[in-house]
Amino acid sequence: MALVTPVQISTNSDRFQQLKIFDESKAGVKGLLDSGITHVPPIFLRPPEDLAVDAPLSGDTHFTVPVIELAGEHAAVVAGVRRAAETVGLFQVVNHGVAAKVVEEMVAAARGFHEAAQEVKRVYYTREKEKKVKYGSNFDLYRSKFASWRDTLFCAMAPPPLHPPDLPLLCRDITMEYSRQVQALGSLLFALLSEALGLKSDYLESMDCAKGHSILMHYYPPCPQPHLTLGTNRHSDPGFLTILLQDHIGGLQVLYQNEWIDVPPIPGALVVNIGDMLQLLSNGQFKSVEHRVVASHKGPRVSVACFFTLDNYPSARMYGPIKELLSEDNPPVYRDTSLQDFNAHYYSKGLDGNSALKHFMLQQ
Ligand code: OGA
Ligand code: NI
Repeated sequence: MALVTPVQISTNSDRFQQLKIFDESKAGVKGLLDSGITHVPPIFLRPPEDLAVDAPLSGDTHFTVPVIELAGEHAAVVAGVRRAAETVGLFQVVNHGVAAKVVEEMVAAARGFHEAAQEVKRVYYTREKEKKVKYGSNFDLYRSKFASWRDTLFCAMAPPPLHPPDLPLLCRDITMEYSRQVQALGSLLFALLSEALGLKSDYLESMDCAKGHSILMHYYPPCPQPHLTLGTNRHSDPGFLTILLQDHIGGLQVLYQNEWIDVPPIPGALVVNIGDMLQLLSNGQFKSVEHRVVASHKGPRVSVACFFTLDNYPSARMYGPIKELLSEDNPPVYRDTSLQDFNAHYYSKGLDGNSALKHFMLQQ
């Protein structure tokens, strides 16, 4: 075992103190920037070993993220969804049924919340697991190797249905409306994904995949030294599926064949990606892809993620590879788990660059 030298101890406790000061300010990264900093503080710095293993951007990959026209011919839509879910695990959708005005107002309201006075935001600042509406910066602040350049308002929308007064007034009505519309899109996507697996269209929904969702409003302030940190560290998403609305700034990247590929903002489009639980259900046929957000001089950047999962909802249902998909040639790769156990493992680990799914793999 490596010996911990006194120098390392003092460095670590120093880091802990800095994390605490940042956390207790309840002002997030936005607060730091408003205080006039011109350098990225040490708690946000990517360590050299993290920079060293960064996948190269050769620039000669011709891969582009698929864009699927959801109002197209049904068989072609299912085939497109299947191809995307099996390969890169992430695609954009257009003609998705979420009204353009709702999309626009949702981004504006998310930005409005994060740009509100600190007194308005700090009442929502918490790390308590049970809270349904929480504002904060870096849910894994005390566990991660370096903090990310991002603040988030997290809202567990359902089940049970969130009482609108629990939401900040600034974004209350539009969040309820966006939640309704994105829920309908979620149901459509689960039907398409069921068919893409060769199952009846209501299969995934009948497993409660669309029963719950949480909405996360992210705010990425402009960064004075963007190459030294990240907006969101590499990770795959915990739930069944994520629908992401990003503004026009860009910065989202997906890891495909060991290359970070930009997911370019397309006005009106929504980004869809497979989550870990759907990779598990599909026995690995669908890919829960790693993605990240780079920090930028540009911004602020706003995004609104909708995770289809059950956060803090006591469901006894067990999830494992879908039996109809298994055969002698396709034995189960993952063991069964409850959503609670999966989420507990995912969140205790934090975004450390390792897949939470590894923990649920059967011995091969
Ligand atoms: C997430 C995520 C990307 C973004 O919320 O899991 O990956 O663009 N967000 O904010
Ligand atoms: Ni994500």
